[in-house]
Amino acid sequence: EKGGYEHYMLKEIHEQPQALRQALSGRVDEMQGTVELGLDLPAEYLRSLEEIQIVACGTSYHAGLYAAHLLETHADVRVTVHVASEYEFRGGRDPWRTLVVAVTQSGETAETLGALRDAARTGARTLAVTNTVGSSITRAADDALYIRAGPEIGVAATKTFVSQVATLALLTVHLGRVRDTLSATEAGELLGDVRGLPGAVQRVLNADTGVRDVAETYVDSVAFFFIGRYLGHPVSMEGALKLKEISYDHAEGFPAGELKHGPLALVTDETPVLAVLTEGANADATLNSVKEAESRGAPVIGCLSEGRDEKFIDVGFDVPELGEMEPLVANVYLQLFAYHVANSKGRAIDKPQYLTKHRQLT
Ligand code: M6R
Repeated sequence: EKGGYEHYMLKEIHEQPQALRQALSGRVDEMQGTVELGLDLPAEYLRSLEEIQIVACGTSYHAGLYAAHLLETHADVRVTVHVASEYEFRGGRDPWRTLVVAVTQSGETAETLGALRDAARTGARTLAVTNTVGSSITRAADDALYIRAGPEIGVAATKTFVSQVATLALLTVHLGRVRDTLSATEAGELLGDVRGLPGAVQRVLNADTGVRDVAETYVDSVAFFFIGRYLGHPVSMEGALKLKEISYDHAEGFPAGELKHGPLALVTDETPVLAVLTEGANADATLNSVKEAESRGAPVIGCLSEGRDEKFIDVGFDVPELGEMEPLVANVYLQLFAYHVANSKGRAIDKPQYLTKHRQLT
C-alpha cells in the first residue's frame, strides 16, 4: 500500500507531479490565458471584491501566505492571511465585498471551520479550498474549490501543500482575468509556470539521493534555521514546520531580513541555515542574510535558481527555472531534507508524536 516506499510521506512526496497534474487537469487554457474552475461565485461579484481574507492553520496557512502575494500582485486585491485560531472577522466597510477563503486539506480543522462560520454569519461570502469532497467546510462555505491531490495519509502535509498553492495560483489567474488586472499574455506566462510544476518537481525528486547525503551530513545539528523573502518566506516557514514536525529537531523559519534582529544570536557552526535563493524570493537581498550567517560559521544550504553560483553557499540545490513557482519547487528539496533527517533518526515519520490528522471518509 506504500507502493514500495518506506513511509507514506515519501510516497506522497513522490506523488507530487501527479497531484499537480490532477490539480491542473481540464482547468487551464494557456493560449487564451484563462482558467475554468467551475466556481459558483459570479464574475460580477469577483469584480466588485475589495478584500480577501485567507484563514488556515499549519501548512495550509503557509499556502495561504504564498497565495496572498500572487493575488495581490496579479488580481489587485487587498489580501490578509490569518491563523484561523487568531481570526476575528472584521468585515471593514462592506462585508459583502470581502471574500473569506478557508484553506484546509481535510476540510475538518475546527479552527478553520469556526473562522469561516463566523465570517459567514457576519455577511461575508466564503470559499473553501480543500482536498476533501463532502467535508464539513464544503457544507459551510458558499463555494468550494478542490485541490484534487488524492488521499494523504502521512500526518505531514506534503503533496497537498503544492496542490494548494497551484490551485490558488489558478484562482489568482481567474480573478486577475475577471477583474481585468491581468492581460491574456501575462496570464499565459503565469499559467506556463504553473504548468511547468509537475516536470520541475520531478527533476527535484530525481535528485533525492543528493539531498539524503546532505541531510545525513547535518543530521546531528543543534538547530536549523530556514530563511527566505517574499515567496521564499512561506516556503522557509513550511520547511521548518516539516522538519520540526517529523524529526523533533528545533527548527525556525522566518523572513531572511529578520535574521539580524534576533535569531542571529543563536547562529553557530552547529546550526545550518537553509536559504531560499530562487526567483520570486528576492535572492540578492536574501544573500545579505546568508553572508551574516556565514560569518558566524554556519553551514549554508541554498536552493538556487539553476545556473546561479554563490560563493557563500556550502551546498547548493538547483531549482529549475519557473518564475514565481520556483520557491514552491524549492520547497520539495526542504521536504526531502526533513524526511531524510527524520528517517536517519528513526522517527515515526507518518505518525509523529502528539500530532494527529483528520482522516478522510472513504
Ligand atoms: O487539514 P488542514 O489543512 O486544515 O490541516 C491544517 C494543519 O493541521 C496541518 O497543515 C498541519 O500543520 C500539518 N500536519 C503540517 O504538516
